[in-house]
Amino acid sequence: MKSKRVLLWALALGLIWVAPVTAGENVEAAEEYETDSETGLIKAPGFDTVKNNCTVCHSARLVTNRGYTRAVWLEQIRWMQDTQGLWEFAPEVEEEILDYLETYYPPR
Ligand code: HEC
Repeated sequence: MKSKRVLLWALALGLIWVAPVTAGENVEAAEEYETDSETGLIKAPGFDTVKNNCTVCHSARLVTNRGYTRAVWLEQIRWMQDTQGLWEFAPEVEEEILDYLETYYPPR
């Protein structure tokens, strides 16, 4: 019981330490690129693929005003594929989309 509590504290402190560091890196990553005036998406590698596949059914705002880990972005995509008629992606296309989302729209 006690060791569980210690573990939780360690986890919490770890998050406090890691969050500002990674947030800073991602802000820098995003600042190197312009924002697309039409969609608001960051014009970084993968932008065209995301624009072509992720702004068809809904506004890009659903992407730009969120931040998730790669795993959660993938969950969102699977959810849309299972329930919202999103098409399947070739593995390399899915990789490109996830690389882009994970890098430029991480948890905030
Ligand atoms: C075939 C249509 C379609 C395409 C293409 C599509 N989506 Fe969606 N998506 C939806 C629908 C429908 C919703 C629910 C809309 C709403 O809540 O207003 C949604 C919701 C979302 C949400 C919000 C989910 C939530 O938790 O509320 C995110 C984030 C998202 N989409 C991201 C993406 C990304 C990233 C892509 C590109 C890989 C994409 N979408 C492509 C149909 C699509």
